[in-house]
Amino acid sequence: MSRKNQKNGYHKETRMIHGDFYSVHWDYKDHMTPPISASAAFRLESVERGAEGFIEFANPKFDRHKKPPILIYERLDEPSRSMLEDNLAIVEEGECAVAFATGMAAITASVLSILKKGDVIIAHPTLYGCTFSLFSNWLPKFGIEVRWVDLKDKKALIKSLDEQVKIVYCETPTNPTLEIIDITKVREAINSVKLRQKVWFIVDNTFATPFCQRPFKYGADIVVHSLTKNIGGFGTDMGGVWIGPKSLENDVLLFRKDFGSPLSAKSSWQILVYGLPTLSLRARKQMESALKIAKFLEKHPFVKKVIYPGLKSHPQYLIAKRQMVDPDGNFAPGIMLYFVIKGNPEEAQKIGRKVMNHIAKNALSLTLAVSLGNVRTLIEHPSSMTHAPLPLDAQIKAGIDPGGIRISVGLENVDDILSDLAQALDIAGKK
Ligand SMILES: Cc1ncc(COP(=O)(O)O)c(C=O)c1O
Repeated sequence: MSRKNQKNGYHKETRMIHGDFYSVHWDYKDHMTPPISASAAFRLESVERGAEGFIEFANPKFDRHKKPPILIYERLDEPSRSMLEDNLAIVEEGECAVAFATGMAAITASVLSILKKGDVIIAHPTLYGCTFSLFSNWLPKFGIEVRWVDLKDKKALIKSLDEQVKIVYCETPTNPTLEIIDITKVREAINSVKLRQKVWFIVDNTFATPFCQRPFKYGADIVVHSLTKNIGGFGTDMGGVWIGPKSLENDVLLFRKDFGSPLSAKSSWQILVYGLPTLSLRARKQMESALKIAKFLEKHPFVKKVIYPGLKSHPQYLIAKRQMVDPDGNFAPGIMLYFVIKGNPEEAQKIGRKVMNHIAKNALSLTLAVSLGNVRTLIEHPSSMTHAPLPLDAQIKAGIDPGGIRISVGLENVDDILSDLAQALDIAGKK
């Protein structure tokens, strides 16, 4: 077989550009850019073929990766999306992928396709706000218990595992505080307790992206992403993906069909054509800048602490060094950093707000915005933005430092970012 046909021998970066555009789902092998599909429904050449399509969809007797699908309706299956799914499974090193309209839709499917009334999910307490809300406000309504356990504490995890537990869930690095969970240790803890049922370990890999971390290698069973972030990379489209074993794929496909949350063909195409092929290039440049920004902030007189997995001062630096690596094995500590302004809670929050407003008015290289993983550098102050409804003491209890600022590093010239940050932080000295 020619080298071209043995794609496994090629580097991840090459494969993210060349993708897999030939499969049983389509025949686009001669297109340099895959065509975008735009058909909500598909013509059926006979009633019998329609019936066959419905029988085969998400049916374990028919492997969608081996047999050409009978396309019926976009919500079930369609070519642009399934092309993206195949490519995402390859870069994440998982068996298969199912793409969703948003990251939250993928996360919801990842847990609800497994859990039922009476089951327990163990989750690390620092999570993206909407995931936290899904787990704490919605799962209990379905009779599902959520146990909040610090997954950095192996003994605590082992103690909390019992016959009701079906899922262990975390982000690493966590949003927004960039704690690192040791995926290998969590796996060891789960394996060390003899239980009748399978306990699924789900990792949200959004902050790292598959360029900086591939959790399956360390023992995760399922990986979820918000594709809205650095995989999409340009902030033009929302999306999410579930990546996991073929044994769960049909349940996840049925969940997506019935809850109605598939990724659109148009968004799939953007991510496939622009996002994935440029991910490694963007991530490399963003990380180079992130380290410079982290070092600059570490020395700044008005900054109490800087959390960046690439700094030796990060509390889980050694775990990050082992776990966050690019496809060549180089340390790849990501594009997100977090720093805390000095002062008591009231002071720090007030200064944080002032710094943000100064940036919004005066800085070209920094954009005040939520979200992350963009060509622009995005900056936000959780205490006075996402967590503003909580009083200060409740924020502190929830792990939100009133002076904490999160940066998602973009592609601007790093000297511009440093001087915009220096100017904005100057006002911290003018209380
Ligand atoms: C870590 C993490 N997971 C999931 C999500 C949700 O993704 P989406 O906004 O695409 O639903 C976010 C959004 O910010 C996130 O930061």
